Amino acid sequence: MMGPLPSGACGVRILGTGSAVPDRRLTNADFARMMDTSDEWIKQRTGISERRVLDLRTEGCSTLAQRALERAIDAAGIKAEELDLVIVASVTMEMTCPSVSCRIAGAVGAKNAAAFDLVAACSGFVYALNTAEAMVRAGRARTVAVIGSEAMSSIIDYTDRTVSILFGDAAGCAIIQADADPTKGCIYQHMGADGSGWHALYIPRRETDVPPEDAANPVRLGNLRMNGKEVFRFAVTKFREVMEDAFAKTGLTPDDVSQVICHQSNVRIIDAAREKLNIDPSKIYVNIDRYGNSSAGSVPLCLDELWRAGKITKGKPFMLVAFGGGLTWASSVWNT
Ligand code: COA
Repeated sequence: MMGPLPSGACGVRILGTGSAVPDRRLTNADFARMMDTSDEWIKQRTGISERRVLDLRTEGCSTLAQRALERAIDAAGIKAEELDLVIVASVTMEMTCPSVSCRIAGAVGAKNAAAFDLVAACSGFVYALNTAEAMVRAGRARTVAVIGSEAMSSIIDYTDRTVSILFGDAAGCAIIQADADPTKGCIYQHMGADGSGWHALYIPRRETDVPPEDAANPVRLGNLRMNGKEVFRFAVTKFREVMEDAFAKTGLTPDDVSQVICHQSNVRIIDAAREKLNIDPSKIYVNIDRYGNSSAGSVPLCLDELWRAGKITKGKPFMLVAFGGGLTWASSVWNT
């Protein structure tokens, strides 16, 4: 971590992005061979056609996180030594000690960087980006790599048809840096949580972690358990509220932003919020059909695809929105 920055207010800019997904595809047809489901049911209820899964014998969360970081470093045109902080958002780190961030910072030669992992489930990347942006703006860091990476296949019980069909593995990274122009960076951010709803989406490690009302759930310990209907209700409402709040607090309208980059949980959840707020479909990116829900990996994967496609227009704000387990939610509105 670095010491004081040049005096005066400081802005923040995104220098470059990167992402990584495994090569192996798990299609709806593969699921139909494994369990009682169909391509039609999955597509109609979720919008998902396929997702990517790691070979967990040799790969994990840190494999994807490192690849995304290396690609973002290349795109940013910096040396790894310039990073003074690496944050990885995840719920699927191989180990909690050491963190994924320590391992990948070491692997890429980011020897001047502090490193920590952050847990906020599907909201993790937006939480991490907001945290990093605030640190850069405050002069506590100058160049930060923010990564969301998930090996969701490591916490999925592939006999549970309601949960397994939703998730895939992915990672994305954004490298941000202090900028002399104070108008650049995050113009609004919001992070929230409601722990009273934790049991709607959770990964129990011990029998005692399981609340009595979920005791009959056959999903094995160490795997993700979900009350799909409860999460659906929460997500539809919260997604809309978080976007409405961000538009209201910034005074922006959907026409003013180049993109709303949202967590890819279910295309019906995205469509419901988009229709309610009357946002043009071209402004809400959807790639869930190809990757499923990759938790903290989903927002930075979308960001990287849009950034590389030139869809984040310079001079126009863009918005990031996510919600997920915890329960958590977050928004981040950026001036480019
Ligand atoms: N294939 C076929 N049938 C399935 C199925 C599958 N993969 N999964 C569940 N079903 C069945 C159920 O058993 C149920 O059968 P029944 O009526 O005989 O009991 C029926 O389909 C309807 O199930 P239901 O749970 O009501 O479906 P749904 O329309 O709520 O869709 C989800 C289920 C999981 C797709 C939906 O609830 C959802 O997307 N929830 C939010 C999940 C989410 O976003 N999580 C991450 C948040 S970050």
